[in-house]
Formats: sequence, C-alpha cells, structure tokens
Amino acid sequence: MERIIIEGGIPLHGTVQAGGSKNAALPILAATLLTAESCTISNVPDVSDVQFMVKILQHLGAHAEPLDKNTVRVEARNIRDEAPYDLVRKMRASVVLLGPLLGRLKSCKVSVPGGCVIGPRPIDLHVEGLNKLGAHFTLEEGNIVSHTQELTGTVIDLKSKFGSTVLGTENVIMAATVAKGVTIIKHAAQEPEVVDLASFLEKMGAKISGAGTPTIRIEGVRALHGCEHRIICDRIEAGTFMTAAAITGGNILVRGCDPVHLHALIEKLEKMGLNIHWEKYDIRVQVDQPLRGTKVVTEPYPGFPTDMQAQLMAVMSLGEKSSTVIEKVFPERFMHAAELVRMGAKIQVRGDTAHIDGVKQLSGAHVMASDLRASAALVIAGLAAHGQTTIHRVYHIDRGYENIDEKLRSLGARIWRERDA
Ligand code: EPZ
Repeated sequence: MERIIIEGGIPLHGTVQAGGSKNAALPILAATLLTAESCTISNVPDVSDVQFMVKILQHLGAHAEPLDKNTVRVEARNIRDEAPYDLVRKMRASVVLLGPLLGRLKSCKVSVPGGCVIGPRPIDLHVEGLNKLGAHFTLEEGNIVSHTQELTGTVIDLKSKFGSTVLGTENVIMAATVAKGVTIIKHAAQEPEVVDLASFLEKMGAKISGAGTPTIRIEGVRALHGCEHRIICDRIEAGTFMTAAAITGGNILVRGCDPVHLHALIEKLEKMGLNIHWEKYDIRVQVDQPLRGTKVVTEPYPGFPTDMQAQLMAVMSLGEKSSTVIEKVFPERFMHAAELVRMGAKIQVRGDTAHIDGVKQLSGAHVMASDLRASAALVIAGLAAHGQTTIHRVYHIDRGYENIDEKLRSLGARIWRERDA
C-alpha cells in the first residue's frame, strides 16, 4: 500500500492537462462487447477502475489489450455471459455489463454489486428498464441472471426520487441498440458521459437521438460493427484541479475540458469569488480575493455534480465563511466530513445536509482515504493545511485519478508518495 504526503500552504500556479473521463471510459469499454469486431479507444485514463474493466472483458473472453498507457483495443469475438463475484465486487460500475451482455448474447450472469461507502447502490431501475425490453431476471446465489428470447423496443421511464440513473440509462441504451423496434427512454440521465457513450455507439452503427436530453430515442439495428473513438475529458478531474487552485489561493490553467460540462461548478466557484475565464477547452482559475461562503445542492446533470461535493466542501472549510451542502443524489455521501474535521474543519452533518463554518487554518494530520472523491477532498485540504498531511490507502484515489500527485507537483505543490506500512 502507498500513502501520499503533502506539505500545505503553497499557492498553485501553472498549467495542467485533464485526462480522459473514467466515467465515460467504463461504459464505452463495456459497449465493445456489443460487436465481434475490433474497437480502438484512445484518451482512456490509466486508472485502476479502467484497468479493472479491461480485466473483466478479458475474463469474459474478449481480446482486450492496452496499445499504450491511454489506448485500449478490444475484440470481443467469442464471449461468455458470466462476470463473477470476485471481479464485480471490486467495482460497482461492473453493473454496466448487463446491457451489452443482454444485447449481444441475450443472457447474462453478473454478480449483484454491493453497496459502498457513499451509500446503498440499488439497481432496481436497471432491472426494471431491461425487464421492459424483455429481459427476465432471477437472483441466483447473489448473481443477477437473465436468459431472454429477444429484446423488443418500448417506452421506458427511468425517473427516480434522485432524478435519474447514469449507469441505468447507459445499460438501457446499450441493450436497446440491438433490440427489435424503437425504444424511448424518458427521464434519461443527461451527463456528458452518457452523450459520449451514445456517440461511441453511433460510430458502431447504432441509431440514437436525444442523448444529453431527458428523452432518448434508440432505433434497434441488426448488428453493430467496430470503430475508433477518443474519450471525452474528465470533467471531475478538471474540477478537482480547479478546487485545488481555489483553496491554495493560486492561479492555474486547466486544459482539455469543455467548460459547458463544468457550468454548475464554475457558477458556484464564481459566486464564492473566484475569477474564472475560459477559451475553447482551457479554463483559467484565479483567486484574487478571500472566498465567500455559499449553498450547494447536488443534482443530476446539468445540476451541481455530486462527484464534486467533497472537493468543494474542503474549499468551504477554510477561511471565515459559512456554507451549506445538501446532498440530494447520494444522501449519505459525507465520509470526507469526519476526516476534514480531524484537520480542524468545523462541519456538522445532519441527514443529507452539512453545515460548514470555515476556519482560519486547517492543520495537517494523518487521514484515511475512504472513497474516490472523499480522498480527493483530503488531498485538496492537505494542499492548504498548515504542516504535513499524510493520506493513507491512496488506492482509493488511484481508482479515478491518473498520477494526481505528479500533476499537482507540476503546479508547484509539495506532494509525494511513500510506501505505507
Ligand atoms: C454514476 O454512478 C457515476 N459512476 C458516479 O460516479 C456518480 O456519482 C453517479 O453516476 C451520479 O452522477 C459512473 O459513471 C461509473 P446513479 P451510478 O445510478 O450510475 C439511485 C465517481 O466518483 N439509484 O446515477 O451508479 C442511486 O442510489 C462515481 O466517479 C436507484 O435508486 O449512479 C443514487 O442515489 C461515484 N436505483 C441515484 O439513484 C437504481 O437502479 C443516482 O445514482 C440506480 C440508482
């Protein structure tokens, strides 16, 4: 195991390139199962969740190999329908295999993903949506199993009390691409990663319209073919660097990300007093005044992203200001709060709401990473804390950030890795 050590207090300056999106790469890698032909995917982030998905594809019988650090070629000529527990339990997003396996083989046997620290991760909407296409599921020894004659297009409503479901929308789209007839998804997730998956599927010959809006139409085709695709930029990685500049009082240029994908975060950071300018895919973030408090409510895209909530809470923790965070997508997603409190933050969590009273100074401490974005929040806090912060179990960070320490070091941060006991 490794740990990350940070000596805080250095304002970040310079330019950093955001990499490819983990949350676009995972469904797109799964979608390669829909064809026997070769697919080459570039700008894939070199993170453990992606390496894991490649391993699962190999286990299913696909030829999947990296052509270089950020390019993967997959040829799913002859594949099995079973993704076993010891693989799936390590990555909840494996649930996104359901749609392509049903589309390609009309059968699947995937271990039901457990919950995780950000809350229970039900898949009822996935099951209902795929069931409406004709897939009948049974639960057998912890596996979700389905054998179906054929998939038939229909109208599917993915509305939930949390808005919609990203992976659920992606599963239904993938199965519907090769179903008989037309499928209309209502209350579809509108995240940019869903749009990137749809553009990948269209390159494979799928007929999809409305991706990025609440209503998506898919006209089933007989078969899909191979293609080449470049993954969009990771808006959450880009946003994480922006919060690093905010908390350290820096001035950085984040390259590669479409500012439209970060509109809600940019709006909040500007409300807090940050100076933000963008041109094409370059976003400049500059702090030239003490930051103000604000109120954030997380929502499905285009609302404020739940995946940026922890990082922004770290920024809210420093400086004399009061803020409120209401987490409407994963109401239990506050693991980071207790660790920030150990660094001197003043945070009170009640249900889905956290109140933060910013303090004059955060102090470095030994802290424990718990989930991907909570760990990112600890890095952000460590960059501004007085003294040294040691973050243990950094494998949580490496799931979704490629060389985060190297990229922050290039912005002047005093951050390095060591082996952990
Ligand atoms: C995706 O997870 C992302 N993961 C998450 O990013 C992200 O936080 C989440 O969308 C919300 O934006 C990937 O894309 C791999 P949901 P997903 O289904 O699709 C409830 C990260 O840090 N729900 O949109 O699993 C669910 O419990 C990760 O990169 C049901 O009730 O999230 C949650 O409260 C973390 N029934 C809400 O909907 C279902 O069948 C949104 O979940 C499915 C979901």
